[in-house]
Amino acid sequence: MDRVYNFAAGPAALPLPVLETAQKEMLAYGSTGMSVMEMSHRSKMYLEIFERAQSAFRRVMNVPDNYKVLFLQGGATGQFAAVPMNLLKTEADYADTGNFAHGAMVEAQKYGKVNCIASSRDDGYTFIPDITPDMVSENADYVHITTNNTIFGTRYTSVPETGKVPLVADMSSNILSEEVDVSKFGVIYAGAQKNIGPAGLTVVVVRDDLPGSARPDCPKLFDWALQVKNDSMLNTPPCYSIYVAGLCFEWLESLGGVKAIEEINKEKSALLYDLIDNSSLYRNNVRKDCRSRMNVPFVTGDADLDAKFVKEAAANGLVNIKGHRLVGGMRASIYNAMPIEGVRALAEFMKKFEKENA
Ligand SMILES: Cc1ncc(COP(=O)(O)O)c(C=O)c1O
Repeated sequence: MDRVYNFAAGPAALPLPVLETAQKEMLAYGSTGMSVMEMSHRSKMYLEIFERAQSAFRRVMNVPDNYKVLFLQGGATGQFAAVPMNLLKTEADYADTGNFAHGAMVEAQKYGKVNCIASSRDDGYTFIPDITPDMVSENADYVHITTNNTIFGTRYTSVPETGKVPLVADMSSNILSEEVDVSKFGVIYAGAQKNIGPAGLTVVVVRDDLPGSARPDCPKLFDWALQVKNDSMLNTPPCYSIYVAGLCFEWLESLGGVKAIEEINKEKSALLYDLIDNSSLYRNNVRKDCRSRMNVPFVTGDADLDAKFVKEAAANGLVNIKGHRLVGGMRASIYNAMPIEGVRALAEFMKKFEKENA
């Protein structure tokens, strides 16, 4: 069966070589005579798979030794609650830069005092507001940002300076897409289903000094210190998702790691933005210096024409390109696994569609 180019925002396309390896190993992994899905998470063979995935993640993300990597469940949404339950004692600062950023902030309000210190909400989330050290509240336990806003197509191009206050980042939609200095963050978390692997896994990278004072009513599954103590296996982990994520990390390494994929991601996104900027049909509403390299939203300005675009694109093997309902139009999510050929095919289709519908 022919595979399509899948521009979904998440769960998203996975690298073909990873799927092929998973397919090859589906029925019997190594000499075990069983699928990874059938293994006890306490078995020697599975623990090797788990540790291999963790080590590969640490290598590709260049995680310093004083950070723990947790493989958890509950999605990024689970961490919207886990972050305040582990860290919020006095107050916390949030930047409201999109739907998920807003959701993280609203969730934290259940657990204590929350300050919105920067927002682009009134401007339709079309840019990333600056955060400067003087904006950070004196008693803030942490500052929370969302490094890439999946729905609106914006991204932070530099890491905000927050002094001694730990910076917590939801990196769900741009983790592993560009080089990141992990030491600038207290906590990084991400749902897996975009650049990491299949849904079901949530990665949390946490600086050693931060776990250990979760509020007493924090469910034990969300208590980072307990998860650190139990090597992320307080209960059954998402075994198969972790195995496939491990294959994705090794695939990324084989391409030259994050540094190499960052260059490809720059090229892929520039291809679409250049086309949009030079077109009289398509428009991207994001401030140019805040554009995402992972999610490229665009509109024609005519809802019927947008619908026609989505339909005809799908007929040409370019699927899941409909924009989020909050924004409308189209959105091309071009995570690491989307090959440049897929982006070129989309660009060709866009040009053809513009000619036919000008
Ligand atoms: C930036 C961001 N944060 C959080 C989420 C929610 O993630 P999950 O479904 O893993 O809870 C998403 C999902 O698309 C996202 O893009």
